[in-house]
Amino acid sequence: MDPFIRSLLQSLAEALGALQPRAGVSIGLWQGGAGSRLVVEGARAGTLTALARLPVLKDPLSGQDDGGDEDDEGDGVTRIGEGWWLLHCALRDHGGTPLGLARVVFPAEPTPDLLARARALADHSAVILEQYALHHELQQSFNGLFLVYEAGYLLNMSRTAGEVCERVVTTLTRTFHFTHCAVMLARDGMAVPVAHAGLDPAWAATYRLPVEQTLGTRVLREGAAAQFYDAADLDASALPVLDGGLPPRSVLCTPLTTRAGSLGSLEIYRTVAEPFDDDDVFVVTVLAVGMAAALENARLYETLREREERLTDYAARLVTSQEEERRRISRDVHDGLGQMIVSAFQYLQAHEFSLPPEHPREAFRHGMRIVEECITETRRVMSDLRPSTLDDFGLVVALQQQLDTMAEEAGWQATFRVEGAGLGRLPPAVEMTVFRVVQEALNNARKHAETPSVRVTLSQQDGRVAVEVRDWGRGFAAALSSIRPRQGKNLGLMGMRERVALLGGDVTMDSTPMEGTTVRITLPIADE
Ligand SMILES: Nc1ncnc2c1ncn2[C@@H]1O[C@H](COP(=O)(O)OP(=O)(O)OP(=O)(O)O)[C@@H](O)[C@H]1O
Ligand SMILES: [Mg+2]
Repeated sequence: MDPFIRSLLQSLAEALGALQPRAGVSIGLWQGGAGSRLVVEGARAGTLTALARLPVLKDPLSGQDDGGDEDDEGDGVTRIGEGWWLLHCALRDHGGTPLGLARVVFPAEPTPDLLARARALADHSAVILEQYALHHELQQSFNGLFLVYEAGYLLNMSRTAGEVCERVVTTLTRTFHFTHCAVMLARDGMAVPVAHAGLDPAWAATYRLPVEQTLGTRVLREGAAAQFYDAADLDASALPVLDGGLPPRSVLCTPLTTRAGSLGSLEIYRTVAEPFDDDDVFVVTVLAVGMAAALENARLYETLREREERLTDYAARLVTSQEEERRRISRDVHDGLGQMIVSAFQYLQAHEFSLPPEHPREAFRHGMRIVEECITETRRVMSDLRPSTLDDFGLVVALQQQLDTMAEEAGWQATFRVEGAGLGRLPPAVEMTVFRVVQEALNNARKHAETPSVRVTLSQQDGRVAVEVRDWGRGFAAALSSIRPRQGKNLGLMGMRERVALLGGDVTMDSTPMEGTTVRITLPIADE
């Protein structure tokens, strides 16, 4: 019986027994139709025999007849033998439902005043009993709500398996007041207590048991929580050692199962051999279900994180090797093709005047102009591949040059602004990233925008460099994140995002149809 109810009934019995010297008291409490239970005997000398002769109480709600003459529900005083008076004092809730019955045996006829006091004591106790039941009910609803919240929290907020297990143990101990519990997870075929409370730390640090010998495996077969409080059922070698070296005498064990199979078990231990009630089983079952799903989430999250790390690593290598490849091609073009075209031009130049007078000079000059254009085109290709201006003169000059060249080709009215004084040389990776982003944004403006003008703004503030490329062209409606590369197309914006992300920066893109597009990036200026 609940300790609070026991002590309440004990006090009631003592108070009723004190109404008259040698009075005896017996109180029955109706327990949900399961029959009456004699809970307290306020025995005084001489009244024991009288009490013993009373019929056994039956729960009036159970519908069973006790075979006796007594009306267990009724109130009132009756004379039951030589010198004995019996008072029936029903304990009822405010709606009149009987909660129990107090029977008092008096050695002398009770006065009306004494009866009134007995009634008042019984009513008062009934109010407390009812309030306590309401409190218990409220506590149950709170626990139910808390469990729903907790399962949601586990699923949404916990990122690692360790966090999930620790959180469940804290909930079991702090909110539900279980003093001994453990999360046993399978690791390479062995059960390991990964989070626990109230267990012997030395035991927990060294305990490893083949999974098939654990209680977890036994309950897994049932597929639901099971409890063990019979000594014959409890194999000491499969059980933990509790704080203070005590063995558990009752265990409530729930399997942790996911679609991928069994992960282990959630276990609650007690030092006394006593069954767990339905509320305990409910709490542990709900937590175990939420926990298994959260552990599965944590595993998927971890796999995803590892995959993302690999992808980022791969992207970084790709960008680096792309730059290296461009540098190599640029060098090859410069040293091979470039030199040959320049030599060809010089050769033609040197021989222009040694041509025989009858030779058509105009056709020869036309050939020379084509070779000259080849030289310009080769320089442009080399500069696109590896902007040597960037290496030699830095970002500001390289951007200015890039913008001028493209503005001339596209017929734009171009503006270049540098904000914030003293923008010196930046780490090579930062300069290259800014340059490539501007290059791609200008290429996009040329390919897609049909804009009359463009503006490039470079600025530096609070350890970050920012660059903005603005056009006043057609614009487009899609959000930056929704633009996906397909069949080798639309790689520009994705490459831009990846380059910037690799250096820990941000890209934003604002575009409004018929108003134009603004691409803006910011990058931290940290040395490589
Ligand atoms: N300045 C802009 N004005 C109008 N539309 C733009 C602009 N920049 C990008 N877009 C739109 O966004 C799409 C994606 O651009 P992105 O640079 O990723 O690909 P792309 O330029 O089509 O191809 P790639 O860059 O791979 O050669 C473009 O196809 C275009 O529709
Ligand atoms: Mg592009």
